[in-house]
Amino acid sequence: MSNSTAKLTIQQHQLELPIFESTMGEYLVDIGILGKLGIYTLDPGFKATGSCFSEICYINGEEGKLSYRGYPIEQLAEKSTYLEVAYLLFHGEKPSSTELRAMADQITNNQSLPKSTQSILDCLEAKTHPMGMLLTGVSSLSYLSNTPQSAQEIDNAQIQLIAKLPTICATIIQKVKQKPLRPPRQDLSYSANFLHQISDENLDLSTDPLYVQALDVILTLHAEHEQNASTSAVRVTASTGTNTFGAIVSGIGALWGPSHGGANEACINMLQSIGHIDNIPSFIEQVKDKSTETRLMGFGHRVYKNYDPRATIIQSLCHRILEKSTGNTLFELAKKLESIARSDEYFIQRNLYPNVDFYSGIILTAMGIPESCFTLIFALARTSGWIAHIKELFTKHPHPITRPRQCYVGSKIRDF
Ligand code: ACO
Repeated sequence: MSNSTAKLTIQQHQLELPIFESTMGEYLVDIGILGKLGIYTLDPGFKATGSCFSEICYINGEEGKLSYRGYPIEQLAEKSTYLEVAYLLFHGEKPSSTELRAMADQITNNQSLPKSTQSILDCLEAKTHPMGMLLTGVSSLSYLSNTPQSAQEIDNAQIQLIAKLPTICATIIQKVKQKPLRPPRQDLSYSANFLHQISDENLDLSTDPLYVQALDVILTLHAEHEQNASTSAVRVTASTGTNTFGAIVSGIGALWGPSHGGANEACINMLQSIGHIDNIPSFIEQVKDKSTETRLMGFGHRVYKNYDPRATIIQSLCHRILEKSTGNTLFELAKKLESIARSDEYFIQRNLYPNVDFYSGIILTAMGIPESCFTLIFALARTSGWIAHIKELFTKHPHPITRPRQCYVGSKIRDF
């Protein structure tokens, strides 16, 4: 709490509202008292609203900086594995080698799916969107968490979800590709095992260290991003006391949308429909024409008003992965599109830069993952962030059930 207060005069009330100062120096006015006076604030889309106290992730949108538990994302992408990041997010400190080994063992011992989940996924209509399949697959595991929310329930669910999500996602990817699923292998690392499961006779990337590292980096970059839409959905659901699987399913539903996790799929579709560098100028004109409602997918962010630091890392990964296959058309197109957009007044004035999804789809395509399955990879990664938030809400910074107010603009009371 800072020593300063904000003064607010409203109706007959003269109020001094306490101001909280974050570790990194932002100020947040505590308006909690207003509800007791029957006065409410209005902020659709929560553009200026802090919903909780949190120690997990920090973003400086103006400077394009991101850190998990204080560690800059660039260092985590370079020096850690995704499992270390998942441990760090959940426990607050990085693991010792013994702790990491113990976690990795728990993960590999729990990666197989129960027959029921396998059969449920097999039964789904082939035209079901992969994110719809994921919702169903994760829901079917809720029997693993039949107890009310508790510290132990959250701990168990963390291992089960981090272990089983790759197998569920691989099952869905192979169903979409109409290829058989390879069973998980306990001798491989987390990312190598996932690549092994989605490989087939034409493409086995699990033995290529560059691809294994690239997947690990993609998972690390997508693991956490403070109070974004899906994490907020998870926290809102978890605030009701429901179990961890119930809360995670809310996050998957929220992540599916094209304004959020669905953007990388939409971005690849956009690049394919542009088709050729010569078509970029007319596409940009279409984006700027508000009557078309066309957006440059993979551009813009609610918080970043500068380059998304994750996009910088992914762009350089793209270079390394695609070095071998010279002249990747989509990557060349994406780079040209970025450079034209970033020199255009429309994008400059609105601080619109590439976000993490602008280049990630290109790498996922190189891994043989179908576009409709891109958001699965995001969900796989973000699950570790979601669970860390559930744990924090339950054990460290609890708050009452999330229940916003509204500005009612419907009919006055009338007779039926
Ligand atoms: N293309 C064209 N114009 C854009 C874009 C874009 N991608 N993004 C924002 N704008 C414009 C808006 O039209 C608006 O213009 P105006 O002031 O003339 O009305 C202005 O920039 C502000 O945009 P808002 O929609 O108010 O910004 P908001 O913070 O609500 O939206 C969002 C952020 C949803 C990410 C938006 O930038 C967008 O739709 N981007 C494309 C989808 C995308 O890439 N999503 C992934 C986000 S990252 C993630 O979830 C991992």
